[in-house]
Amino acid sequence: MTDLPSGKAIVAGVTGWPVGHSRSPRLHGHWLRRYGVDGLYAPFPIAPENFEPAVRGLAAAGLAGLNVTVPHKEAARALCDRLDDAARRLGAANTLVFGPGGAIEGRNTDAFGFAENLKAANCAKTGGTAVVLGAGGAARAVVLALQSLGYGPIRLTNRTASRAEAVTDALGPGIEAVPWAERAAALAGATLLVNATSLGMTGQPALDLPLDDLPAGAAVNDIVYAPLETPLLAAARRRGCRTVDGLGMLLHQGRPGFHAWFGVDPAVDEDLRRAVAGDLLAPG
Ligand code: ATR
Repeated sequence: MTDLPSGKAIVAGVTGWPVGHSRSPRLHGHWLRRYGVDGLYAPFPIAPENFEPAVRGLAAAGLAGLNVTVPHKEAARALCDRLDDAARRLGAANTLVFGPGGAIEGRNTDAFGFAENLKAANCAKTGGTAVVLGAGGAARAVVLALQSLGYGPIRLTNRTASRAEAVTDALGPGIEAVPWAERAAALAGATLLVNATSLGMTGQPALDLPLDDLPAGAAVNDIVYAPLETPLLAAARRRGCRTVDGLGMLLHQGRPGFHAWFGVDPAVDEDLRRAVAGDLLAPG
């Protein structure tokens, strides 16, 4: 445990609009205490019309950097002086690292977080067919991660076909756009199924996807983490499939930022899961 932050504390935070739902302050706050870092991590609600001047002001004020969430990830990418490969390819930055003189480096750590979570669950089997549901920013990060892990082909299916085709254009080759109406049949022969839509999230419609064609040896990863066991994961478990919940992606995506700002590569473990999402975990 650390003492209270000093006048030399390193300061970072998360910005979104709104930002009150973000679990990042709990995530980084837990790590700060655990590693005894002289630092602070705070929420910064910034309205879209103020985004650029506010971020530049925070950089000029000596912040170490920011995580960026909805709706600012594309605007964040646009104001960076330098981008990592993932931020460039995904067209969005979720992690900003401020340098001397207010220089802003943009990274996207969502694909890293997804890949690390799959690896930690021993489900990052290389070289199989993957099915990805969705075509938003999260699905793009999932596709990039699967490509880096050696999956292929990647069957991408989305309610709005034009968005799936846009992902294929941006991140292909090796991605096949499958009509949403044919999503159940697309599971045949898959080694991995990933839900990267918001379907199945608390308060959202259910995901309608019969799993009859999914091999029992497949792994299923839902990036939705509220609830932790989504109806998709429950159905997959009943089928004998290995399942991976979405909380780990959130936890692992935070690691590169924490390392860049505070100098420690932090661990993801059960204590952290409890600290960040104790309200979602089953009692006992
Ligand atoms: P994110 O950036 O977090 O991925 P997003 O861009 O809003 O968020 O993407 C949400 C995903 O959930 C999309 O793939 C969306 O499908 P559309 O592209 O057709 O909108 C999908 N989604 C949300 N509600 C859905 C619904 N009722 N049925 C099918 N797909 C849905």
